[in-house]
Amino acid sequence: MQKVFDALIDGYLLDKVGISENFLGLTLSQNLKENLVKLFEEKKLISAKTGNGNETNLNALVRSDKIFWLDRINENPNENAFFDVMDAFVLFLNQTCYTGITSYEFHYALYEKGSFYKKHLDQFKSNASRQYTMIFYLNTDWKLDDGGELCVYLPDFSINISPTNGKCVFFKSSEIEHEVLMSHAQRMSITGWFRVD
Ligand code: OGA
Ligand code: NI
Repeated sequence: MQKVFDALIDGYLLDKVGISENFLGLTLSQNLKENLVKLFEEKKLISAKTGNGNETNLNALVRSDKIFWLDRINENPNENAFFDVMDAFVLFLNQTCYTGITSYEFHYALYEKGSFYKKHLDQFKSNASRQYTMIFYLNTDWKLDDGGELCVYLPDFSINISPTNGKCVFFKSSEIEHEVLMSHAQRMSITGWFRVD
């Protein structure tokens, strides 16, 4: 994994946004995607909220994706394999970049056709725990005109990242404004945050 970790962080340090085309490996990505499809079919996904704590509100004008939190408590072998990779990545971040990460949180996200997430920052004003954002895309056969790009706003320009299968994106949660453009097809991902609590 070391090489994959290195490449992602090199890109992050150079461009403020690290992109890896195949961070988890195709088998684990495929298995996690199958978990997500099953959760969706079983109607276990919940409408995502915006904000934090008392300010939490359900705001369909801001975001319209549905989510489910990954957890070791689920005793799902694929989620556990995913967390094993994340544990190794946290060690790497803390050893090589002195990031002081103490925990993380990840949820599956499913954007049905017509869903979006308006421009935002991932770090809450009321709680600055979230340090780094990481997103994994699980969309096999994604087409250019399916839309659903992640639009990342940098100081002088913006970049549109297509949510193609296996791709992973990494950036600083307090710094990088971003948005999910309207998706014209079902769009699946795992999104999470490395925290300092
Ligand atoms: C988020 C988010 C981006 C994406 O969940 O906060 O910005 O590409 N997701 O799914
Ligand atoms: Ni976000």
